[in-house]
Amino acid sequence: MTFKPFHHLTLRVSSIKRLGNAIVCLELEDPDGWELPPFTAGAHLDLHLPEAGVRQYSLSGDPAVRNRYEIAVRRIGDGRGGSRWIHDRLSVGDVVYSSLPRNHFSLGPAYAEYILIAGGIGITPLRSMTFELGRAGKPYSLWYCARDEAHAAYVDELRARVPRERLSLTFTGPEQSARLDFGALLREARADTAVYCCGPSTLMNAVREATRHWPQEAVHFEAFAPACAVEPGAEHAFEVELARSHRTISVQEGQTILQALREHGVEVESSCEAGVCRACKTDYLDGLPVHRDLVLSVDERRTSMLICVSGCSSKRIVLDR
Ligand code: FES
Repeated sequence: MTFKPFHHLTLRVSSIKRLGNAIVCLELEDPDGWELPPFTAGAHLDLHLPEAGVRQYSLSGDPAVRNRYEIAVRRIGDGRGGSRWIHDRLSVGDVVYSSLPRNHFSLGPAYAEYILIAGGIGITPLRSMTFELGRAGKPYSLWYCARDEAHAAYVDELRARVPRERLSLTFTGPEQSARLDFGALLREARADTAVYCCGPSTLMNAVREATRHWPQEAVHFEAFAPACAVEPGAEHAFEVELARSHRTISVQEGQTILQALREHGVEVESSCEAGVCRACKTDYLDGLPVHRDLVLSVDERRTSMLICVSGCSSKRIVLDR
């Protein structure tokens, strides 16, 4: 196993459950049995996977359980290799290295009600939220769609634990003919209600569209897969002006802003480099960004961009850095 130097936690795989061919559920513990650092619902771990690099996985378990973390991983045959490595190479007893839990998708406490919408393996952070909301006595509804039960996780556990009136399971079939009607579900924008959505881009785009009339700060998205089915590199060369450091840097065709800044010695924080984790979120002051992430809200996109994937349709973009 290749040692990755930037980790904070050493975790031992204590359980692996296979759900059909597509999904594995893992439990991770401290190798010496100590309590693990706390997390809040919606948090993820950056796992450092040998041969595959750093990958983000949402914590799916109950935040009140302190002696194990739970994650679920769908096998993505044509992905970047992280899920294949977990499915094919990881065994009970193996050690993995991880960041501390980080949360960009936390539950806002100020709402009277919560609508949770999950697609496929996107159930993971929302399952964690059901524990937290249930304990706090907050009303919520969980709308979970997947192609079929083999492409869904925790279905039996959700059926057994979540009150029936709060759980809606939709299996769309291979043609996706039984899709949820988000227009009807989200027609009424309610000021006291928050929406949390995690799933594939088609589902998140449908929810984004159906919530355009909602207060944008009440609508939250988390991507579970890299946003870049699109190539993240620039389609044409442009210039990045760094307003605070008074520098101008050229981004070449095929390059990302992040790569160009690094090439010129500018230090930029990053993690997933796939438009998912927000670590590289940067405010822009001028220019026309092309947003390629799946996680920023409409409001956030008015002022910020994720420079590991997003580009620019103008000749110049000015960043607040
Ligand atoms: S590094 Fe993760 S979103 Fe840019």
